Amino acid sequence: MLFKISTIIAMAAAVLGHMEITAPCPRYSSKCATQPTLPSGEAIDYNLNSPIGSNGSVLSPFCHHTTAWPQTTETWTAGQSVTVNFLAGGATHSGGHCEFSLSYDGGNTYVVVHQELRYCFYTAPPSSGGVDTVRTFTFTLPANLPGTSHAIFAWTWVNAVGNREFYNNCGDIAIKGAAGTYTGKKMTIANYGPGYPVIPEFLGNYETGISYYTTNVTQATVTGSGFS
Ligand SMILES: *[C@@H]1O[C@H](CO)[C@@H](O)[C@H](O)[C@H]1NC(C)=O
Ligand SMILES: *[C@@H]1O[C@H](CO)[C@@H](O)[C@H](O)[C@H]1NC(C)=O
Repeated sequence: MLFKISTIIAMAAAVLGHMEITAPCPRYSSKCATQPTLPSGEAIDYNLNSPIGSNGSVLSPFCHHTTAWPQTTETWTAGQSVTVNFLAGGATHSGGHCEFSLSYDGGNTYVVVHQELRYCFYTAPPSSGGVDTVRTFTFTLPANLPGTSHAIFAWTWVNAVGNREFYNNCGDIAIKGAAGTYTGKKMTIANYGPGYPVIPEFLGNYETGISYYTTNVTQATVTGSGFS
């Protein structure tokens, strides 16, 4: 009986998967409101909710796929409010640290435009009765973000509970704004193989690894040629 229950739980977890964005449309997703055209030679990816790093190993390249969507799927505007949506359900691993970042150079440099630290996907700290029902994040882009016809949008997440993993999905977007540069916090990469810090399981302490996001950080500058 116990075996059967654990089997059912394992199956449910496999069906639920982890977390995955649906807007901006992540590379090679089949789950977006509008299905972009796949790059030639590429296939739909049904495993976008799997981690890109786990147990000290790199499982997938950044963004899961290095070739961008052939067309951008959304146009954002500097200084305006934008929304990132996740697929309903999923396994939130008791929250953790999420970042939302942009790259203007094809993925070499990512600057953070929004953080959801500690309780990502939760309405409040779990210890204060927070529930993991948050699947939409709305934030305001910096007003001085440069415009570009093609930026990579990246969501990254270090989970609070479970195997030490690094999750990431990327979308391809345009940003309306003037030509220029923007300097902000460089995206934190952890639990992604050798050369990156390991953030241990939080074990109820939601400050775990927080310095990699707040104090022990470096700056990054992105440059855009302008887009209207
Ligand atoms: C990570 O290690 C755990 C414990 O050994 C194991 O259950 C899990 O399958 C591993 N995950 C991956 C992605 O290798
Ligand atoms: C700061 O972060 C780097 C990795 O990014 C790490 O090697 C170093 O130990 C950290 N320093 C402190 C004081 O935590």
